[in-house]
Amino acid sequence: MGVHEEKQLAVEAAGVLVQNGMRVGLGTGTTVGLLLEVLARRRPNAVFVASSPRTEVAARALGLDVQPFGCFDRLDLAIDGADQIAPDGWLIKGGGGAHTREKIVAVAAERFVVVADATKRVATLHAPVPLELSRFGLAATLRELESCEVRDAPSSPDGGVIADYHGTVADPRELARWLSAIPGVVAHGLFAPELVSELFVGVGAAVHHTSRGGTQ
Ligand code: A5P
Repeated sequence: MGVHEEKQLAVEAAGVLVQNGMRVGLGTGTTVGLLLEVLARRRPNAVFVASSPRTEVAARALGLDVQPFGCFDRLDLAIDGADQIAPDGWLIKGGGGAHTREKIVAVAAERFVVVADATKRVATLHAPVPLELSRFGLAATLRELESCEVRDAPSSPDGGVIADYHGTVADPRELARWLSAIPGVVAHGLFAPELVSELFVGVGAAVHHTSRGGTQ
């Protein structure tokens, strides 16, 4: 079993959570790309919001009903990938630079579900931590962050500068608190365990399902 198959198994397992009548947030990335195909096959009568233009275009092309995320104050479910998953449930996201909108979608969801292959499991989180920075005052923000590099990537859809923090991630909660306190940091890619309702990780031919209450 390769990484692709593990992703496929994870999204097949999570895709059945999308039911008729739901409002569902869609993340960004290759794993979510596979999820979109599962949803296009199942065709639940649900409405979707996308965390990136990439996902929006792909979901629409597959015939999913994607609505702008401005009118719903709550989502029933959101499903997204991750770059790193620590044993204590902390995540790093934003390898695709979409973490700001991904976090807005995740926080709005009653149930935030993460889908991944086994390569995403790490013993401890490590740099880089993706950041979105305000263009205003960028040099001053970079000075404050010290170990940070602007990524050679397009701006976010909201005009933010995508960058990567390269300092230590020994204490993710403390790092998240510190990054959030810097005004020029629009959002960071650290996602706290309390945000994540469930994880579906493809491991070989199996799917490891973990929910906030424990492994199932
Ligand atoms: C996008 O900004 C990221 O947060 C993705 O969710 C994450 O990088 C996972 O992407 P893949 O599914 O492509 O590994």
